[in-house]
Amino acid sequence: MSSGKFLTFEGIEGAGKSTQIELLAEYLKDLEFKVVLTREPGGTALGEVLREILLDERQKNVVPMAELLLMAAARAQHIEEKIKPALESGKWVLCDRFNDSSIAYQGAGRGLGASHVQKLTELAFGSFVPDLTIVLDLEWKDGLRRATKNSKADRFEKEGAKFFGPVRDTFLSLSRKDSRYQVFDASSSVEAIQNELRLLIKSRFL
Ligand code: TMP
Repeated sequence: MSSGKFLTFEGIEGAGKSTQIELLAEYLKDLEFKVVLTREPGGTALGEVLREILLDERQKNVVPMAELLLMAAARAQHIEEKIKPALESGKWVLCDRFNDSSIAYQGAGRGLGASHVQKLTELAFGSFVPDLTIVLDLEWKDGLRRATKNSKADRFEKEGAKFFGPVRDTFLSLSRKDSRYQVFDASSSVEAIQNELRLLIKSRFL
């Protein structure tokens, strides 16, 4: 059986990642591919427990390195328990955030530096990288407004310009360096983004 594809979706909160993932999954299922939708932090029983802790706004004293290590612990479990087995059985894995979020949020937002994140990544998962990373780019204020419209702000959503400015810039600068990334303007309509995304998938993989 051929191995599947690993697609990750990145961007600040409220950029519309989950909507685009769901629509793309429908498209791929119509083409008879087997698709797994998952997210980070999360995706496994352990990952979902860690997610609750990481997003809990009562956890005010989590230091940046502890935050990074918890993200990495969730990711290590996710890769071995869910992502690799799915890919090996020929499925497409669509993942809402992955390691690039650690580079952007912990590396830049929290100020740990990309090289710290990179060192940990090499130790924890070697060279396990996505086949394609979709970056949905949006002005951070617009994203936060969308993300907190119908729900209370989580621990990350309470941050401001000093945090989200570097997070957004990091996604964009990573994208300029490597053809694995494709940036989409997340202020466009859901349909326009999805159409472009489907064209991209077709031209790269089908
Ligand atoms: P989301 O599901 O709304 O994207 O929430 C997940 C939050 O966790 C979001 O604020 C980004 C943050 N995050 C990190 O800080 N580092 C990471 O490595 C990942 C995967 C997520």
